[in-house]
Amino acid sequence: GLVVLAYSGGLDTSCILLWLKEQGYDVIAFLVTPRFTVFIEDLRSEFVQEFIWPAVQANAVYEDRYLLGTSIARPCIARRQVQIARQERAQYVSHGATGKGNDQVRFELTCYALYPQVQIIAPWRIPEFYSRFRGRKDLMEYAEKHGIPVPVTPKAPWSMDANLMHISYESGILENPKNHAPSDLYQMTKNPEDSPSEPDVLEIDFAKGVPVRVTHVKEGTSKDTPLELFCYLNEIGGKHGVGRIDIVENRFIGMKSRGIYETPGGTVLLHAHLDIETFTMDREVRKIKQSLGIKFSELIYNGFWYSPECEFVRHCIDKSQENVEGRVQLSVFKGQVYILGRESPKSLYNEELVSMDVQGDYDPCDASGFIKINAVRLREHNRLQGATQKK
Ligand code: ARG
Ligand code: SIN
Repeated sequence: GLVVLAYSGGLDTSCILLWLKEQGYDVIAFLVTPRFTVFIEDLRSEFVQEFIWPAVQANAVYEDRYLLGTSIARPCIARRQVQIARQERAQYVSHGATGKGNDQVRFELTCYALYPQVQIIAPWRIPEFYSRFRGRKDLMEYAEKHGIPVPVTPKAPWSMDANLMHISYESGILENPKNHAPSDLYQMTKNPEDSPSEPDVLEIDFAKGVPVRVTHVKEGTSKDTPLELFCYLNEIGGKHGVGRIDIVENRFIGMKSRGIYETPGGTVLLHAHLDIETFTMDREVRKIKQSLGIKFSELIYNGFWYSPECEFVRHCIDKSQENVEGRVQLSVFKGQVYILGRESPKSLYNEELVSMDVQGDYDPCDASGFIKINAVRLREHNRLQGATQKK
């Protein structure tokens, strides 16, 4: 059942909140202050199952490197935001993204797609707001003056977005693309230079292209709920410094930006999924699916998770994953993921067919014709080149 708890943020209600959750209730923490109503939501399970898993199925990577940790979180957050807006009969939604970035586009496209009548308030694009608050100092003073408690810790000299899948770092001292990231920047992953000198060997079971169980081979422990499993991969990947990148990327609005990312669990899964997918998928289906994956990544990055074209692409990718099942063994070590072996009841690998020692259902003489026919075009090309060279 769903409980709405009148939540004060004090000791009693904080414990009651947790206790209700333990009893199996879903809880909306309803923070009543003289001025505001607050909803506190745990969206991690749906984030994993409805957003991270489709990205895993697609091998979703933007511009060959970025695993889209922020990009997929935006539709997840905005979807819940408009649900609450509808339920509370709110006409407006608001967010704190700047007017130069991708996030404003993602939040707002999701809001319009799911709640077409909604009106959006983006303060960082409103002159009265941004001319009044010119920096962090102005914001702090304003909060203090109005008695709003804000963290007083000195701000890191860069901007972060942290969620279950990744942390991103941008702007501030990172804006000069030549500057190296300070080594104490990373929070989810250990520096591979200081990571353990023993690998962790994992076994990941897939069904329909998503992980359903992760087993630590030596310890014999395993995780099989999506959230636990993903958190565990973050832990192991993080321990060995897996999934750090430093890139310059193309924002949708047309500028390049420098970003640093750490995506430990997502990176382990990308390697494992690529392996089991190639093992179980038809070659020509794979090629088409791969190009759809690139398209999907671009749509996610640009904020079109909820769009007809993205829905279409996601259905196709989903279809391609029907037989993507089996078990991958890998080792995680010094910033790397090493595939060790794989097995699957849906394997398309035919040991007899490919073997150098067994004939299998294959006549080597057929290869002569196959090669000659493929050579027709190449020989013609050579003939033409020879003719032009003579002239
Ligand atoms: N550049 C990345 C993206 O567009 C990360 C954005 C980080 N967002 C933030 N509000 N700090 O997905
Ligand atoms: C922001 O503009 O709020 C962060 C950067 C981005 O969205 O790309």
